[in-house]
Amino acid sequence: MIQVQLIEELKNNIKEAKFSNKSIGFVPTMGYLHEGHMSLVKQARRENDYVVMSIFVNPAQFGPNEDLAKYPRDLQRDSKMAKEAGVDLLFFPQVNEMYPQDGGISIQAGTQANILCGSSRPGHFDGVLKVVTKLFHLVEPKTVYFGQKDAQQLAIIETLVKDYNFPLEVRRVETVREPDGLAKSSRNVFLSPKERSEAPMIRKAIKLGHEHFKLNQDIARAKQITIQHIEDNISGKIDYVELLSYPSLTNDLLNDTDVILAVAVFFENVRLIDNMMWNIKERY
Ligand code: PAJ
Repeated sequence: MIQVQLIEELKNNIKEAKFSNKSIGFVPTMGYLHEGHMSLVKQARRENDYVVMSIFVNPAQFGPNEDLAKYPRDLQRDSKMAKEAGVDLLFFPQVNEMYPQDGGISIQAGTQANILCGSSRPGHFDGVLKVVTKLFHLVEPKTVYFGQKDAQQLAIIETLVKDYNFPLEVRRVETVREPDGLAKSSRNVFLSPKERSEAPMIRKAIKLGHEHFKLNQDIARAKQITIQHIEDNISGKIDYVELLSYPSLTNDLLNDTDVILAVAVFFENVRLIDNMMWNIKERY
């Protein structure tokens, strides 16, 4: 595995891969890798000749009171894991390499960013769009890999790619979970032991909401069942429980739309998200 920090080195390696007609699969991350990230790499490895991973804790997507400084980092461990998983090229730039002084042009997400995580994290998805746009241009991948766990991010990136004709395909990769159902996340390390034991109930609550929705298509009731299960079993506070169309993320649930039941819960030192997606036609 080749490791590079500079854009110029990255581009030289990409040029070589392209010259040899290799298809490039790209997995952007913020590091502190876990099996969730690794499943994106595995799929990229299966589907491409050349796999690029980036590790960059992107300041543009963190608000002033968010966890940028304390976001967990361990490049040595990450690099070992990336190598073992078959990454060909690891790009881990410094902040000033990615963001030298610029002309102040920004990319703004649309209405999809006004709800769910977007409402408590203003500007977050603009920051995500900024970094992925730059990375997509630098890596020139044929296919990019994103996890369904961050479903709103995935929906917004799919919209960016479609609306602005990026010459690449976006793959949705299923959420990887702990044996007890908790979605793997770099932020799970911030849970206290008590919170860790409660956290799998988020998944359970979403499943109950899903089951209920399949029975009678009652949005309000499905949300209420999810909320109740979280409130009865988790000491953290609900940020949101929403049932929306996917990927448009609106309340208009048409007859053949995909839907998402998405949840975010604040614990003492961390906010966790999870979701489930299905087609509205799915019924008992
Ligand atoms: P990060 O949180 O490191 O996640 C990188 C990728 O891994 C994302 O596509 C995310 O959805 C996926 N992922 C995380 N946990 C997962 C799990 N349990 N199962 C499957 N996939 C999982 O998301 C980001 O970084 C950043 O916003 C980024 C897109 C890199 C832009 O900075």
